[in-house]
Amino acid sequence: MIDIHSHLIPAFDDGSRSVEQSGTVLRMFEQHGVQHVVLTPHVLASELATSTEEMVRRRDAAFAPLERLAVVTPRLHLGFEIMLDQPMAADVIGDRRVSLAGSRYYLVEFPYTVAPQFAQAVLSDLVRARTVPIVAHPERYEACSPRAVAAWRDAGARIQLDATTLTRVTDRGHRARELLASGLADVIAADNHGNQRSVKTGVEYLEKRGAGAQAELLAVANPRAVLEDQPMTAVPPVSLKEGLVNRWKRFLTG
Ligand SMILES: [Fe+2]
Repeated sequence: MIDIHSHLIPAFDDGSRSVEQSGTVLRMFEQHGVQHVVLTPHVLASELATSTEEMVRRRDAAFAPLERLAVVTPRLHLGFEIMLDQPMAADVIGDRRVSLAGSRYYLVEFPYTVAPQFAQAVLSDLVRARTVPIVAHPERYEACSPRAVAAWRDAGARIQLDATTLTRVTDRGHRARELLASGLADVIAADNHGNQRSVKTGVEYLEKRGAGAQAELLAVANPRAVLEDQPMTAVPPVSLKEGLVNRWKRFLTG
């Protein structure tokens, strides 16, 4: 497995607080069969607009003690998770020091209340500049109907679901499963913040439902395409029937 979204650079953002904490997570990942991890600390598009050099320098400096751990597996790669609090500045678009592992792919997120049309306009700008935005965990946004996400994908963006959210009996979990069932997901990732979250949870969830081929695309082939700077493969819809009990649980827990 390959995980393209994690917060394991020690004490850089709201993720792991120390080298030891990151080391514990990386050992767990190794046991789970995760072979590559992209480290994607939070950064704002507005911060990058004024101080790309400074943010890259700070990230690389905070990464150094983790690099000294000399973890063999998983192999570590650098990136950012870019919060699009404003459209990306023209001179930041295409700067591969802020993309995922130096590829054409940029991991982006929006404020929770984002309007789908605003998101689509910003994503289209990125695609026009020959980059590929990957929208991190769109299931967090209430606005993320399959129709809105299909429009983002048609514009050229790709979609990353939280691996662990897939198993949750919540509205967020429901939205993630709806996207999978509609063939709109491209990658699953753990978004680990120094805790127990692992891509393995999502892979097991899919395998139990006879969707091993989709799990392979979501957790291995498409994340590998990111590392190798190649196009992704579309993931066939996953047939997921929500039971009556879970529907009631979701209704009762809001
Ligand atoms: Fe994240």
